[in-house]
Amino acid sequence: MGRLLITGGAGYIGSHTCVELLNAGNELTVLDNLSNSSRASLDAVRRITNRPLTFIEGDLRRPSDLDAAFNTETFDSVVHFAGLKAVGESVERPLEYFDNNVTGSLNLLEAMAAHDVKTIVFSSSATVYGDPASVPIDESFPTGPTNPYGRTKLMIEEILKDVYAADPSWRISILRYFNPVGAHASGELGEDPAGIPNNLMPYIAQVAIGQRPHLNVFGNDYPTRDGTGVRDYIHVADLATGHLAALEFLNDQPRLSVHNLGTGKGYSVLDTLAAFEKASGKDIPFKVVERRPGDVAECYADSNRAQKELKWKPQYCLDEMCADAWRWQQRYPEGFP
Ligand code: NAD
Ligand code: WQD
Repeated sequence: MGRLLITGGAGYIGSHTCVELLNAGNELTVLDNLSNSSRASLDAVRRITNRPLTFIEGDLRRPSDLDAAFNTETFDSVVHFAGLKAVGESVERPLEYFDNNVTGSLNLLEAMAAHDVKTIVFSSSATVYGDPASVPIDESFPTGPTNPYGRTKLMIEEILKDVYAADPSWRISILRYFNPVGAHASGELGEDPAGIPNNLMPYIAQVAIGQRPHLNVFGNDYPTRDGTGVRDYIHVADLATGHLAALEFLNDQPRLSVHNLGTGKGYSVLDTLAAFEKASGKDIPFKVVERRPGDVAECYADSNRAQKELKWKPQYCLDEMCADAWRWQQRYPEGFP
C-alpha cells in the first residue's frame, strides 16, 4: 500500500494497471500529457474501481510539470509508463522519440532524486532483444534493438543501471513486456489506438467489427509452423498484476531487477486470427502481403525469472485475450467516447 505517481497512467497499459493498483488499496496520482490518450480512460478507471484518482495534465519534458507533481504529494514510488511507442514513427521521427522517452525519463529521475523518491518500475520492452538468436528469450540474452524506439528503451535501462550503481539505495524494476493485448473484463477499458492500428490484435478487432475490409498478414514465408510471425501475447490484466508483484519485490530490499513479462507461449498470426474468429463468431478475411520491414520470425519469453522471483503467473489464455478485446471493441467501436 502506498502513494504512487503513475506517469502515462491514462494510456493503455497504465490505465489497466491503475485499476489493479487502486483495487490493492494504493493512492494514485497520474501524470500524463494526453498525447496518446484521453481523460475518458481515467473516468473508466474511477468507475470500475469506485475509487478516487488524482490527475495532473503534464509533460515529462517540462521539469516544471514534474515539480508541480512532486510538490503536491509525497510519493513512495513511481510507475513509469509515459513514452511514445510506435516503431515505424520512431524511424521517421527519431529526435522526438529520444526527447520524449530519454529526456523525459531523465527529467523524471532528477525530480525523483531531488524529492528523495527512489523506487521506480519502468516499462521496457521485448524490443530491446532485437532479432533473437533463439527462442524462448530469457533476460540474459544479448540486447540489440533494431529501431530508435527500441534504442530509447535500452538507453533508459542503461541510465537506470548507472543510477543504481551510483546509489544502491534505489529500488528499480525493469519490466520487459512482450505483446500486451486484451481489455478489462468489464468492457469499459481497452486499447484505443489513434488512426490505423499498427498492432495485430486491434487491427483484427476492427476488421471483425466491419471498420476495415481485411487483415493484411505480413508474410507467410517465415521459418515458423505456418509461415506467419509468432509472438507472445499477454493479457493486459496479467501485465498489470506484474507491476504489483514488482513493487512488492522492491519492497523487500533495495535492488535493480530485470524481468520478462510474457506468457512463454508463442502464437502465429493465423493462430491469433482463428482465436479472434472463435471469440467474435465472425469470419475475418485476410490477405497475405509482403513482410513488414524489421519484423522478426519468432519472439516469445522465457518468463521463469518473473514467475519465480516475483511470484507472478499469467492467468489468461489467448481465447480470453480475444474475448475481452472483442467485448471492448463491440461496446466502444470508436474507442473512448
Ligand atoms: P500508450 O501510448 O497507451 O500510453 C503511454 C502514455 O504516455 C499515453 O497516455 C501518453 O499520452 C503518455 N505520454 C507520452 N509521452 C509523454 C510525456 N512526454 N509526458 C507525459 N505523458 C506522456 O502506450 P502503452 O501501450 O500503454 O505503453 C505504456 C508503456 O509501455 C510505454 O512506455 C511503452 O513503450 C511500453 N510498452 C508498450 C508495449 C505495447 O505493445 N503496448 C510493449 C512494450 C512496452
Ligand atoms: C505481431 C505480429 C506482425 C499487424 C510491436 C513492437 C514492439 C512492442 C509490441 C512496444 C507480427 C503481424 C501485425 C498486421 C500482421 N511494442 N501483423 N498484420 O511487431 O511483435 O511488436 O508491439 O514495445 O516493440 O514492435 O507486434 O502486433 O505489430 O505484430 O500480420 O496488420 O502480427 O508481422 O508477426 P510486434 P504487432
